[in-house]
Amino acid sequence: MIRTVRGAARLEGTVTLPGDKSISQRAILLNSIASGNAHVSNLCHGDDRASILSCMGGLGISITAHLNCAQTGAEECFLVQGQGPDGLTEPDTVLNAGNSGTATRLVAGLLAAQPFFSVVTGDESLRSRPMDRIITPLSEMGAHILGRVDNSLAPLAIRGGNLSGISFDQPIASAQVKSSVLIAGIHATGETTVVQPAESRDHTERMMRAMGADITIAGPRISVRRSTLSAMDVAVPGDISGAAFWLVAACVHPDARLTIRNVGINPTRAGVLDALRSMGANIQIKNVREIGDEPVADIVAESSQLHGTEIAGDAVPRAIDELPALALAASLASGTTTIRDAEELRIKESDRIMATVAGLSSLGADIEERPGGMTIRGVDRLKGASCDSAGDHRIAMTMAVAGLIATGETTIAGAEAADVSYPGFWRTLNSLTSQ
Ligand code: S3P
Repeated sequence: MIRTVRGAARLEGTVTLPGDKSISQRAILLNSIASGNAHVSNLCHGDDRASILSCMGGLGISITAHLNCAQTGAEECFLVQGQGPDGLTEPDTVLNAGNSGTATRLVAGLLAAQPFFSVVTGDESLRSRPMDRIITPLSEMGAHILGRVDNSLAPLAIRGGNLSGISFDQPIASAQVKSSVLIAGIHATGETTVVQPAESRDHTERMMRAMGADITIAGPRISVRRSTLSAMDVAVPGDISGAAFWLVAACVHPDARLTIRNVGINPTRAGVLDALRSMGANIQIKNVREIGDEPVADIVAESSQLHGTEIAGDAVPRAIDELPALALAASLASGTTTIRDAEELRIKESDRIMATVAGLSSLGADIEERPGGMTIRGVDRLKGASCDSAGDHRIAMTMAVAGLIATGETTIAGAEAADVSYPGFWRTLNSLTSQ
């Protein structure tokens, strides 16, 4: 689908975000293997929601949607009937994780511990993403996993059960891999330790601890032992990765003020706020509070005079999904911005270094591809043009925001990709420009 976005004279309004995709998937998966029932409210929207619900449904878990939920007061919530650590049933067909790397890798950690046969796969993009990064540690724990192309790609065929704890030195910072091993670890005998090279998002650790897992965290070392989780209601915070598009839009637009409510600001995820602040962004964090085990705030972002910055090293995992949007911010900042150490971007839902450079260049940005990142020299303005989402939700939304700031008209081919994480994105975009 092609969408057209026109440069907006003014951006103003209040944004309500979909639930955080990472926290949503963990809330559904961990409650499925907990004992007792749990209500999950403000679940993420879009195809990634469907992916985790269909995988857990395929494993025999009952998850039902309820409107005007009496227990939580939420407009919509999901009742997950946890079956305990041994309550999953062998799926009678292939589990389909769609476009979701998180669902695939977290579910694979769970399947590694089940005494049955299962196959997990996904769409074309997912089937090209590296799975050896989970196959290696899960096999070392005792699971039997086969994948295509030298055991590196999905579909993955898994016969699990009888796992033993390992100590796993992660070669790259990845919360998906860390979580996969920890989920296997709460089913294994002995201790399972993951050592992180840099801190990646810690939602799994927070949620497991709150649900009663035997987990210890000592600097970069996270250890778990066999545990039975207790069901826990989760009110999912708004997705900071979705907020990033509006933050960037407000900061680079010359006449903008946006309020974004209920944003998850977990420090292991909030790299986008740090990066924008280091560029001189006019951002205020208000009403900071804890919802469950996650910090949440309202954020006000306004037109700013941005300048270039460097995003590298430990800052990268904390902003990994927000780098395309930050590249857009850098395209309109004064001076040069360098993004380094971000090779992982090449193996997301698309090659995000290539797709970001192609998209922003077509609107007149001065942006160069590097093996592990991008070099961006700010320009005075972007000019509307035709571009492509590369089938990637974050690229579709980055280009839509670029279109809001650019002069004239921008057409985005493959715009439907935004539905993977943010189906309400276009409605919100229209509401902010039509006031
Ligand atoms: C995620 C972790 C990140 C991120 C992805 C969601 C998660 O991937 O890019 O969108 O929920 O754990 P990696 O862990 O592979 O870096």
